[in-house]
Amino acid sequence: MVEVRFDSYSAADTVEIGKKIGVALRGGEIIAYKGGLGAGKTTMTRGIAIGMGLPDTVSSPTFAIVNEYTGGRLRLCHFDMYRITTPEALDSVGYYDYIADDTVICVEWSENTEDILDENIVICIENDPDDADHRTVTIRSERKLI
Ligand SMILES: Nc1ncnc2c1ncn2[C@@H]1O[C@H](COP(=O)(O)OP(=O)(O)OP(=O)(O)O)[C@@H](O)[C@H]1O
Ligand SMILES: [Mg+2]
Repeated sequence: MVEVRFDSYSAADTVEIGKKIGVALRGGEIIAYKGGLGAGKTTMTRGIAIGMGLPDTVSSPTFAIVNEYTGGRLRLCHFDMYRITTPEALDSVGYYDYIADDTVICVEWSENTEDILDENIVICIENDPDDADHRTVTIRSERKLI
């Protein structure tokens, strides 16, 4: 297990961190975000998609539950589990059908589906009570990504 930590001082910084992660992904990764409302999970995913070479801009999957991005070397499936809290609900949104070797899965609100996601990467984005734009980003993964 590798753990690295970065400071981000703007949304642009978080996109840059995401881009580097996106470049390093090989497919089969399941990325679980930890971090509250407005932490920057969607912003980070936007960077990951750019790093993966995907042509479309990532938007929040809050209403759709899952947004799918194709047109690059790998597919990105971006979930928001804000309202998904049970294995049955996870199944009913088709979560298990999206898992594939050519697919990267990013999950916002993974806290809601803890222990059932089988993630291999965890990205924690923590706010700073003293600085509205500062985030501490901690990345845990099986192999070094950045
Ligand atoms: N260092 C930073 N990194 C990321 N976002 C930042 C940072 N500083 C300020 N922001 C702002 O915080 C907001 C993050 O929004 P974003 O939608 O990415 O969060 P989220 O974690 O996905 O929220 P939600 O839980 O509502 O889905 C944006 O408005 C962004 O501009
Ligand atoms: Mg979001």
